[in-house]
Amino acid sequence: MTLAIERPVGVFGRKDLPDDWAHEQVTYFQDPETGLRAIVAIHDTTLGPALGGTRFYPYEDESVALTDVLRLSQGMTYKSAVAGLPLGGGKAVILGDPATMKTQALLEAYGRFVQTLGGRYITAGDVGTNSDDLDVIGRVTEHVVGRNVAAGGSGDSAPMTALGVFQAMRAGARAVWGVPSLAGRTVGVEGVGKVGYQLIDLLIADGASVVAGDVNSSALERVVHDFRGVRTTGSIIDLDVDIYAPCAMGAILTGGAVVDIRAKLICGAANNQLAHPAVERQLADRGITWVPDYVANGGGIIQVAGERESAAMDQVRARVEKIFDTTVEVLDTAKREGMLAGAAADTVAEARISSSRARRTSPCTR
Ligand code: NAI
Repeated sequence: MTLAIERPVGVFGRKDLPDDWAHEQVTYFQDPETGLRAIVAIHDTTLGPALGGTRFYPYEDESVALTDVLRLSQGMTYKSAVAGLPLGGGKAVILGDPATMKTQALLEAYGRFVQTLGGRYITAGDVGTNSDDLDVIGRVTEHVVGRNVAAGGSGDSAPMTALGVFQAMRAGARAVWGVPSLAGRTVGVEGVGKVGYQLIDLLIADGASVVAGDVNSSALERVVHDFRGVRTTGSIIDLDVDIYAPCAMGAILTGGAVVDIRAKLICGAANNQLAHPAVERQLADRGITWVPDYVANGGGIIQVAGERESAAMDQVRARVEKIFDTTVEVLDTAKREGMLAGAAADTVAEARISSSRARRTSPCTR
């Protein structure tokens, strides 16, 4: 991603991050009593308050944590913009090992800090934080989404994330085979955790055949038990399937892996699938269509965004289903402009941000 938003670049002037994207605000918090050290990065609030999860992770050092939060928060700006949400991009990191450091006192201290930002940043869950933690954070700040249903949240976002991936896949099928349906296609689903499991349900209902892979044998046993006809295998990425759906880890699309991919379409939930941006060109050169991850996996953010306005679940579902239209727009733009889908997605997101900024800054003519 390259940010075309016109602002001076490099608020920190970091040589190790030459593409530093002029974040609006970066705030460090610490609370010696609980051991909390956190950074909140607000990348862009043109479209609305910055929403993004809190990652609780044992970073090597503070500089690595800062780099991560800057990158992740920029990604959230694009994810929300392309999903058509009235939200900006932000993200937070808590430095440390959640297994040993996570206490209710620390989470509450963190929540109090989030509250001091006055709603410019709204937190959600991410690696190392879950709905139970968000319930605790939510005791001291209203600027939190993704809590459990009992605490006023919308609960697990995996079903809506899977629905969004399914819609994006249908749009991908339209681009590749001319028909927005997965009937008769073979889909290799890599990772059958919360999202992959739900995706298989949707694929089978649409008439697709599924081959599933997971490093966790009990996750595989569950899908074999619950869905008739699902085959399982060790490696999915190099299988002779129509569609490869990465729903496990990021950075799986490496230059080396691309040569073994036989699928014509790649569309999945995993974040940051490209190990390097250049991999997308390699995929295109092999005639493989890739649906940018942040377009396909926006169902979760659409759900938690709905929480803020107490949207009904069928309203949220309708918004998630629009991921089909967005993916069509992205893939059509790519084809029309002769660009890669990743660049086309960035273009769609940036156009939404720019037009909102133009509306905001245009003088009143009445
Ligand atoms: P999960 O942790 O429930 O499931 C991931 C599954 O992948 C697990 O069953 C795990 O055993 C398996 N796995 C791990 N490494 C693997 C490997 N090398 N090969 C095959 N399988 C492997 O996670 P969840 O929630 O299903 O998320 C899946 C992906 O989607 C993640 O990358 C996540 O960041 C992304 N995502 C999830 C959202 C959500 O709402 N849950 C929203 C947006 C993105």
